[in-house]
Amino acid sequence: MKSLFALVALAVVASASPIDGEQVPFALESFPGFSLDLSAQRLVEMQGQPPVWMSELEKIQAKQRGIKFFDITDTRDLGTVPRLQAKASFPSPNATEKVKPILKTLSTKGPEENLREFTSFRTRHYRSDTGRQSQVWLKKRISEITSEWGSKSLQNKIKISEFSHSWGQNSVIARINGSSTTDDGVIIIGAHQDSTNMWPFLPAPGADDDGSGSVTILESYRALLAADFHPVRSIEFHWYSAEEGGLLGSQAVAQAYEGHVNVIAMSQFDMTAWVKRGTREEVGLIMDFVDLPLTEFNKQLIDLYLDIPWVETKCGYACSDHASWRKAGYPSSFTIESTFENSNKNIHSANDRIDVSDEFSFLHMLEFSKLAVAFAVELGSVSN
Ligand SMILES: *[C@@H]1O[C@H](CO)[C@@H](O)[C@H](O)[C@H]1NC(C)=O
Ligand SMILES: *[C@@H]1O[C@H](CO)[C@@H](O)[C@H](O)[C@H]1NC(C)=O
Repeated sequence: MKSLFALVALAVVASASPIDGEQVPFALESFPGFSLDLSAQRLVEMQGQPPVWMSELEKIQAKQRGIKFFDITDTRDLGTVPRLQAKASFPSPNATEKVKPILKTLSTKGPEENLREFTSFRTRHYRSDTGRQSQVWLKKRISEITSEWGSKSLQNKIKISEFSHSWGQNSVIARINGSSTTDDGVIIIGAHQDSTNMWPFLPAPGADDDGSGSVTILESYRALLAADFHPVRSIEFHWYSAEEGGLLGSQAVAQAYEGHVNVIAMSQFDMTAWVKRGTREEVGLIMDFVDLPLTEFNKQLIDLYLDIPWVETKCGYACSDHASWRKAGYPSSFTIESTFENSNKNIHSANDRIDVSDEFSFLHMLEFSKLAVAFAVELGSVSN
């Protein structure tokens, strides 16, 4: 497969011919259904290095080599605005009476149906037509769930919106307004809706990365509505665009919130389905580049509310959307399907499918829906 990618890439580069000393923007013609110009220059930040300019093609090649980065072309100021509020602390979970009944209502049915639909798009690449279509479908599904499961009084507190991006696929935000008049805190639960193949123009069903996280948090949202949970603090569910392009969507949203929205905590769900054969089923708690008190809080939630244990693991710099919130100065955490080493190796390929192996588990995903519900209810029920 590697050599096929190289061949395709070479063919693309070869088709670019200089006219009047300028590169032809070949990608538009070469790949119908995409608006990805491989020669476009982007500003990229890798761990411990000053930002560097590189082309979209060089970004793809860096990703193929396993290098993680922020594409900061449109968000150069992220992290430079001072915080308005003091960081919140995370007391031990104590809303057991509220959380436990909601956990019983979580199901694998919705996530299975939703993920079958979500993976039926050829790719959810953020610069593809089908990536825009999958986003429109996702927003429609969130709206349907809201009217089907939300009481009228709860629906009046909910807003579902698109956060617009220049590349076509928008991030989607569902907000449940809190009832407090004194606490302006916001709790964020996130996943990324986009998918990619290592070579972006090839099919990318993205069942685990991150279709799984996307439908996991959607099921949590459904259960909160079904329980008629009216939060004290506002709760937002975010489905980011363009995580695979260097955390583009989450950086744009974090930049818009920075300095004026009081984000108490952000929890990222990226890959929640895979249980590697022969391993113990567990929740991977990312320990590097996260807020440690919030991660300790997640540990307590897992001990109290889940049927499987946690295990500490690491995923490196800029490895998912929580990193954008950390950069903005907000407490953020990331939980994943297993240790990083035991995670799904089919991602970024046409094989990131539901039916590729019985290691893909909707019951495993359900544990993560429990975690998102517990996170929302425990942090959304209190006020300062
Ligand atoms: C749980 O703890 C929070 C924070 O300390 C507190 O505000 C809240 O009243 C407690 N809730 C219950 C049900 O004890
Ligand atoms: C939610 O609260 C914000 C801020 O108080 C307000 O501007 C907005 O209209 C509210 N939205 C809904 C749907 O109630």
